[in-house]
Amino acid sequence: MYTRNSVQFWQDPLPPWDCDQTNTLVCCQVRQETHDVKSFFFRPTKPGLFNFLPGQFLTLELPIDGATVHRSYTISSSPTHPHTISITVKRKVGGVVSNWLHENLKFGSRLSVLAPTGEFTCAHHPANKYLFLSGGSGITPLMSMSRAFHELAEDRDIMFVHSARSPDDIIFRKELELMAFNQPHFRTAFICEKVGAEQQENIISGFLDFNTLQLTAPDFLEREVFTCGPEPYMAAVRAMLEKAGFDMQHYHEESFNFADLGLSEALLETNTNTASGESFSIELTNSKATIQCAPNQFVLNAAHAAGFRLPSACSKGLCGTCKSKLISGKVDMKHGGGIRPREIEQGLFLPCCSKPLSNLVIER
Ligand code: FES
Repeated sequence: MYTRNSVQFWQDPLPPWDCDQTNTLVCCQVRQETHDVKSFFFRPTKPGLFNFLPGQFLTLELPIDGATVHRSYTISSSPTHPHTISITVKRKVGGVVSNWLHENLKFGSRLSVLAPTGEFTCAHHPANKYLFLSGGSGITPLMSMSRAFHELAEDRDIMFVHSARSPDDIIFRKELELMAFNQPHFRTAFICEKVGAEQQENIISGFLDFNTLQLTAPDFLEREVFTCGPEPYMAAVRAMLEKAGFDMQHYHEESFNFADLGLSEALLETNTNTASGESFSIELTNSKATIQCAPNQFVLNAAHAAGFRLPSACSKGLCGTCKSKLISGKVDMKHGGGIRPREIEQGLFLPCCSKPLSNLVIER
């Protein structure tokens, strides 16, 4: 069990946490944020400081029903608090992973993780003025960015517009209001579908639409926009900004939806390109099936096209959700950090970012 006490944290200089050396984290606190949202805080098993960019995500390896399930969550804490790292999870009706986390993750629980990664970060897009648009639990990466600016005492011009079902569903409301109190250029607006009879200060009734956007951020055309939320929310934001003539080079969103296992655009494109010609055979041992995959086609796409629902999330080699055992054959894998070198040595690979170089046999 982890024994280091808090006094040691500020007495000893700590080394950076190295996920390749110790990928197990210990849950050190659980906070109830709203009626159905909890934040889980973690420390490394060996003392170390977390190093990540605000807005990045963490992939958990969870032992659920006898299988290892990979699930990625954007980090809600700020890298300016490197002793701990936190994720914030909304319990979803019927959601296997979110319910498992809410019911099983307690003080002292241990979990394996992959190193934080992701491209959705203000660190890669410095700007004088930001517009943060979030829906529901999509608030987490934007909270990490806001916390980072706040804790660095940088009064950046940020308009943070968060949409929730009701005032009781607004995650981090008090903390956002405190940040707005502390920093004149940090402003918040909350948009709720249901406000109730009582008038609530700083809450707009309804949905995010062009009128509410103009009301909350009339200068939105000049801002770097970061959006995170359910896919329909982000699609509506994209359409609204495009219609308003926003330069979409300054628009950023979480580019993958962990709940969506449907066919991606990349898949459709790849399939039209590989409709004919040479292909390799891929044997899926658990499914007792053999499928075909063109040399320029990703293995995951070929499996989906053949009707096999291999688990996947990012489809970019980042999250590790699709990790599979390659029993035989060779692949050309270009991953983005979703697999560790030692896992590759053990014969694992990521089908979402791997193209076959020979016939393959996969444990799936
Ligand atoms: S789906 Fe994310 S790494 Fe393959």
